[in-house]
Amino acid sequence: MTLDLFGDDCETNKELEALALGATLLRGLAAPQTAGLLLAIERVTERAPFRIMATRGGYRMSVAMTNCGAAGWVSDESGYRYDAVDPTTGQPWPPMPAAFLQLAAEAAERAGFGEFTPDACLLNRYEPGARLSLHQDKNERDMNAPIVSVSLGLPAVFLFGGARRAQRPRRVPLAHGDVVVWGGPARLFYHGVLALKDGEHRALGRSRVNLTFRRAL
Ligand code: SIN
Ligand code: FE2
Repeated sequence: MTLDLFGDDCETNKELEALALGATLLRGLAAPQTAGLLLAIERVTERAPFRIMATRGGYRMSVAMTNCGAAGWVSDESGYRYDAVDPTTGQPWPPMPAAFLQLAAEAAERAGFGEFTPDACLLNRYEPGARLSLHQDKNERDMNAPIVSVSLGLPAVFLFGGARRAQRPRRVPLAHGDVVVWGGPARLFYHGVLALKDGEHRALGRSRVNLTFRRAL
């Protein structure tokens, strides 16, 4: 009987892995909700389709992106910024779906951060070969809020480094439903994604979709 009482806790601890002080991997946290998340992604991308953005200097990114919420992350030849308007449609970004808000709040809480109400969600779509080089998320106004990152579709290798770019990053394999949260002392840590390996995912085909929730404004 006593064992039963602790059953839930043991389950939770097994799925919670520290990557650094302030950074936590919540394995499979989003798995029970993936059907609702995929539906919400469809709704968002009907109004704000995935597109390839340019970087400062005019290079094409390999990851296709879009956003929902009050602010969206956009990049073009002049640099990157948060913008309330989707430059492709001239309309505000679609609102943040309730399923997104709920998952982001739950993940932040489980990782030990207080109340988290993101106002921006960047959706990244990786096709085989697409990658994201090491970078910091540093354009957000409120650095007290964590970043919550949700992986869907094909597995990927997430790189999680430290405060300096030169620090060799950890390689963290991420699968459909895994969630990573970083904040506090890890908030500005460098991170990236290795080139996506080809494969076929039952729900997302030859792709991986990642949602990153931020408090940007
Ligand atoms: C990001 O850093 O914006 C996305 C990370 C990921 O795709 O896992
Ligand atoms: Fe990032």
